[in-house]
Amino acid sequence: MTDRQNIAAWLPAVGAKLEVRPASTPEPGHGELLVQTKAVAIQPAEYKIQDGVLPFPLTYPTIIGLCFAGTVVKIGPGVTRFQVGDRVVTNSAGTLRNDARFGALQRYALTTQQLTAKIGNASFEKAAALASNLYGAISALTLHLHLEKPSSTPDPLNKSKKILVWGASSSFGASAVQIAASAGYFVVGVASGSNAELVKSLGASEFVDRTQVSATDALIALGPFHAVLAAADSARDQDTIGAVLAAQGGGSFLSTMGVRAGVTLPDGVTGIFAQFLDDYLDPANADFTRWVWWEFLEQKLAGDEMHALPTRVLGGLSHAQEAWDLLRQGKTSAERLIIQPNVE
Ligand SMILES: NC(=O)c1ccc[n+]([C@@H]2O[C@H](COP(=O)([O-])OP(=O)(O)OC[C@H]3O[C@@H](n4cnc5c(N)ncnc54)[C@H](OP(=O)(O)O)[C@@H]3O)[C@@H](O)[C@H]2O)c1
Repeated sequence: MTDRQNIAAWLPAVGAKLEVRPASTPEPGHGELLVQTKAVAIQPAEYKIQDGVLPFPLTYPTIIGLCFAGTVVKIGPGVTRFQVGDRVVTNSAGTLRNDARFGALQRYALTTQQLTAKIGNASFEKAAALASNLYGAISALTLHLHLEKPSSTPDPLNKSKKILVWGASSSFGASAVQIAASAGYFVVGVASGSNAELVKSLGASEFVDRTQVSATDALIALGPFHAVLAAADSARDQDTIGAVLAAQGGGSFLSTMGVRAGVTLPDGVTGIFAQFLDDYLDPANADFTRWVWWEFLEQKLAGDEMHALPTRVLGGLSHAQEAWDLLRQGKTSAERLIIQPNVE
């Protein structure tokens, strides 16, 4: 039952500020759920769309936001796995669909059952924070870097394979460190020194402070690396990663934002980009998608077996612009900002 007028944080155009105003309440179609949004995990891609840095071809005004937790209030035909009243977390992929009805920053949003998990007794905030990048980290590590999945009995040989996670205190990196460590790999995490203990507590065997001039030498000494993931990085970091890979004879790294303009990588070093949500919308990956959302994530939430970054709740939709501004200004470290669309 939707007993409230739907309200959304509308993005009127690239470069414009968010405006909170009414929206019509969407009707779920085939395989879709209508969810009352309780916690939206705010992600960097959102302010980058506002800035025009991520050139998604969107029809404006639109409603942004992908990952949210809440309660199912209506199901469409063909929904088999969820019912009204279920507590869930989901990725609506609204930006890729170019469909404001799937935007997270509204009181009632649509999503699909394929990219939805039940959250049991987990808090909406933790579920949204964890799910916001777990999906990307696991497809990065397994589909793109070809590492093994987490296992209760990992191959002992994996301990001899070193995995470099640059940006290990980011939401994406924190998930990646935990996933790689639970697959038995030797994880080296890179972040600001203040986050050393956090990164080690997630399962990294070694930590390198990215702000130290000695970081490059320290990483070269720790290598060679079997796989390199730049979960959060900059052009300058990519020069360092290039030098580390060159020192081990070449190789490639996967960057969540791709090789930056102006970066020249050494001979034998390449940078790869992937849009991880695409992996989940590709019918060829249907089994993988089902495993991630209906098994792995649900088990991790039910058993409280994975750490989400600490959450900071800013308030209702009127705080969404503030959340985007904080991310844009780099004023968040090792935390996930949360908006609660139904509190106002
Ligand atoms: N390609 C895709 O499909 C995809 C999907 C999801 C996310 N992304 C991208 O992945 C990146 C990470 O997203 P997120 O949600 O995890 O971000 P986030 O948690 O908001 O990132 C904040 C963290 O980034 C770290 N950081 C900032 N600049 C850094 C740098 N130059 N080197 C290393 N760490 C740095 C900071 O760590 P310290 O304070 O410890 O320095 C901070 O803790 C974003 O650029 C996002 O747009 C891409």
